[in-house]
Amino acid sequence: MDLRISCQIITLFACVWTLNAGYSLEGFIEKVTALLGEDVVLPCSFEFPETGPVPYIIQWHKQGIKIPIFIWYEGYPPHIGEGYDGRVSLTDRASLNLTSLQDHDQGIYTCVVNFFDRSPNPKRNASFVHLYVHAPPHFRIKPHEVVHVRIGEKLSLPCDADGTPDPLIRWYKDNVPVTEGLTVRINRGTLEIAKVERTHIGDYVCRARNSEGSIAAKTKVIVAGPAVITVPPRNITTLEGDKAEFICEAKALPANLTHRWLLNDKEIFELNWLVTRTVVKRDGTLFINPTSAEDSGLYTCEVFNGIGTPEKASSYLSVEYPARVTYSPTIQYLPLGLSGIIHCYVQANPPFLHIKWSKDDRPFDPKAHYGVISLNNGSLQIQRVTHEHQGWYICTPYNVYGTAGQSNRMEVLVRDPPVFTVKPEEQYQRRVNSEVTMPCYGKGQPKPTIEWRRADSKKLSRDRSSQRNGNLTIRTLKKEDHGRYECVLQNDIATLVTSTLLVVEGTTPHAPLNITIKTSAFSATLSWLPAYDGNYPQSYVIWYRTAEQGDSPWRTMRVDPDEATTFTIYNLQPSSEYEFRVLSRNTLGDGMYSPTVTAKTSPWDYLGGVYPTDAFGATYIPTVLKPSGPKPSPPRNVSVQETDDGVLISWLSPLNQKIPVAFYYVEYRTQSKPWKRWGPIKHATSYLAKDLPSGQYKFRVYAYSIMSVGQPSPDVSLIISGESYESTESRAITAGIVGGVLFFVAAIVLSICAVKICNKRKRRKAEKAYVMVTCPLAEARNGGHSHGGSPSPIKSNGSSSFRPKSRISDLMSKVICCMSTSKAYFFN
Ligand SMILES: *[C@@H]1O[C@H](CO)[C@@H](O)[C@H](O)[C@H]1NC(C)=O
Ligand SMILES: *[C@@H]1O[C@H](CO)[C@@H](O)[C@H](O)[C@H]1NC(C)=O
Ligand SMILES: *[C@@H]1O[C@H](CO)[C@@H](O)[C@H](O)[C@H]1NC(C)=O
Ligand SMILES: *[C@@H]1O[C@H](CO)[C@@H](O)[C@H](O)[C@H]1NC(C)=O
Ligand SMILES: *[C@@H]1O[C@H](CO)[C@@H](O)[C@H](O)[C@H]1NC(C)=O
Ligand SMILES: *[C@@H]1O[C@H](CO)[C@@H](O)[C@H](O)[C@H]1NC(C)=O
Ligand SMILES: *[C@@H]1O[C@H](CO)[C@@H](O)[C@H](O)[C@H]1NC(C)=O
Ligand SMILES: *[C@@H]1O[C@H](CO)[C@@H](O)[C@H](O)[C@H]1NC(C)=O
Repeated sequence: MDLRISCQIITLFACVWTLNAGYSLEGFIEKVTALLGEDVVLPCSFEFPETGPVPYIIQWHKQGIKIPIFIWYEGYPPHIGEGYDGRVSLTDRASLNLTSLQDHDQGIYTCVVNFFDRSPNPKRNASFVHLYVHAPPHFRIKPHEVVHVRIGEKLSLPCDADGTPDPLIRWYKDNVPVTEGLTVRINRGTLEIAKVERTHIGDYVCRARNSEGSIAAKTKVIVAGPAVITVPPRNITTLEGDKAEFICEAKALPANLTHRWLLNDKEIFELNWLVTRTVVKRDGTLFINPTSAEDSGLYTCEVFNGIGTPEKASSYLSVEYPARVTYSPTIQYLPLGLSGIIHCYVQANPPFLHIKWSKDDRPFDPKAHYGVISLNNGSLQIQRVTHEHQGWYICTPYNVYGTAGQSNRMEVLVRDPPVFTVKPEEQYQRRVNSEVTMPCYGKGQPKPTIEWRRADSKKLSRDRSSQRNGNLTIRTLKKEDHGRYECVLQNDIATLVTSTLLVVEGTTPHAPLNITIKTSAFSATLSWLPAYDGNYPQSYVIWYRTAEQGDSPWRTMRVDPDEATTFTIYNLQPSSEYEFRVLSRNTLGDGMYSPTVTAKTSPWDYLGGVYPTDAFGATYIPTVLKPSGPKPSPPRNVSVQETDDGVLISWLSPLNQKIPVAFYYVEYRTQSKPWKRWGPIKHATSYLAKDLPSGQYKFRVYAYSIMSVGQPSPDVSLIISGESYESTESRAITAGIVGGVLFFVAAIVLSICAVKICNKRKRRKAEKAYVMVTCPLAEARNGGHSHGGSPSPIKSNGSSSFRPKSRISDLMSKVICCMSTSKAYFFN
């Protein structure tokens, strides 16, 4: 029911709205300002027509919203627009009471009053209100009260405030407005200092102000420093039960230091057995009270104030106590006829000095008994056990603090050790992919356990191996199963081990072992131990490369002869790091690489003048990748001379004989073509160049040591003359010159003729008359202005057909002139 009525009303209002839609804002606009969150009354008043009160509708519109935000008609619940629920009501008949002002309430409102019985009302009454919602500034972002910076670092103090009108943000340092500059900038309220200097340290205020108010935020900028430990903890030695105190004093700015203590790199807080006996004081000092033997270790203090990285300092705690026995087994067994150990479990700090033994309540001096040895850990070893060793033993350890007491009486019984009843064979030879069962069985009192393991302590394959009653079975044998296996027979009395070798045949060889390398300047000698060859003869390939550039390619060298297990690689660079590995192969293919070994070649002794030699002992000149050592001086007195056999270039060795010259290179070039070279020239200081084509040559000579090259000698020139060279060259030049001259002459003749023919008839009549006048004029205009003073008849005549217009025509006219003149002379 209500719903229908309000619908009808809304439809009605919508009609009214369309009627009213035309009004504009040209009229008087009242301005109303109110604060955010507060209430405001938007005024609107009207008067009834003279006839008296009539029914009316009040509508409030907001610009930008299609449907009126508030419609009132007497007797009906008012219509309230979205977002205005509970915030609008009428007051003073038509004024709008808008409460809890929000930002978006700002805008232009229109109040329209319509009387029902006057339609359409020619004098519609609308009043306009512009509502401004103001808010005093409040900080959105405030700088911290204290800010720590390090000199030279960047500082950014954020500050931003909201409010209406938009607040203006100003920064003050020590009550003086901050001026922006090269390093100081204010960017949307945030004060940024690119590089903090001492002068930037101080008290800052960020102030935000608008017409409604002003607020300020203070911040102190302080120079910060990371934590520095000023008094590090010191090594402590203490007696068990005493207290220990580790000092760890530190300074920092800000001084909000946190201390962390670690024992052997584990946080003390996590060590339950220790933490209950420790206290960390405010200044970081660590107390341990009382100390216990197991507290010994490395204590690390870590201090941090959030700046930089935590600072650490470490020291040792050594808790000392008299030597003591930690455990006394009531019964120990010795294996009859074998070697056995009578244990004494000792703990001591400092270490025990000696151990007193007693047997059957009488002192027992191990030294007085043949075959009884005192071990480092306090136990006694009996090399060959007999029944006599049986008895009651007591051990008492001593150190500088004496002893904490003796062990309990330990009964030592001599018993028969277990024995192997079935031992594996010495060796099992199987083909790859086949199966092997290696039996091992033993008996004894108490019953021994039997366990197989690999001698190299690698794990046995889980899937392919099984142990049952001492039998070890390995199925589908693989290359890596090759090796030595141990069967361990164990009971309380003794542990016995026997071993066997499993040879897996028909595989590629195993990787060579134990690579050793000896280097010289230019070579490296590798030795290695051959691993199992897979039952085929194996050979080796050495892989090597320089280790100095990232991933340089590997070079390979086959080892010859095949069985050799040592080999020398030549032609290496001195003082260079190389990587080597050895690959084994047999007829089945390549095995595995040995581990890669790095070795450095030794530096080259350049003063010794030693030449590198190759595998055959022949010396050779190495390729130099990194020149090293002193450079030889240039060769001297280079001379070149033509002989019947060719051109002989000779020189003297460099003056500084201390740097040995290994060889020379002679370089030559013709004209400015690139240099070409002959060499290396060893054991000689001359070079005969045969069959050089003729030309203009330059020569120079380089002296090389094995590892470096010096400056070249000065250039020496030589012109090698020859028939072919001279004739072709001069002929060409002559041809060129002659051709040029001929062409020039021909051109002149042609142009003269052309001019002559063209002008012949035309000019014939004028020739005589003008010849004397035009020639001087033309000459004067072209040659300069020296004749400028003389009056010219042409000038007074105005423009003339003979007047030259350009240099070319000047030239023409000159030619004509001369020709006419000569003609005139001839003709006259
Ligand atoms: C509108 O109402 C105001 C105030 O009551 C009055 O002064 C004004 O004359 C009216 N305007 C018209 C066009 O009726
Ligand atoms: C406006 O409305 C609020 C809440 O209804 C009321 O408390 C306040 O007195 C009203 N203001 C006027 C001027 O009527
Ligand atoms: C502390 O002891 C360790 C190990 O015993 C030793 O290396 C170190 O030099 C000692 N430190 C001081 C300050 O004596
Ligand atoms: C110490 O204070 C600085 C600045 O107030 C802060 O950055 C740091 O995280 C604090 N350090 C610690 C360990 O609380
Ligand atoms: C003492 O050393 C021997 C040989 O190293 C060892 O077999 C024995 O278990 C050790 N005894 C103790 C108590 O550690
Ligand atoms: C162990 O191996 C042996 C010989 O290979 C065999 O005679 C014996 O039956 C095997 N025992 C078990 C429990 O597999
Ligand atoms: C080979 O190297 C291993 C491990 O480095 C070593 O145990 C072994 O004694 C060496 N063998 C020889 C013959 O040098
Ligand atoms: C080499 O040249 C220098 C200077 O050019 C000269 O003094 C010297 O005599 C010459 N030596 C020989 C052996 O020709």
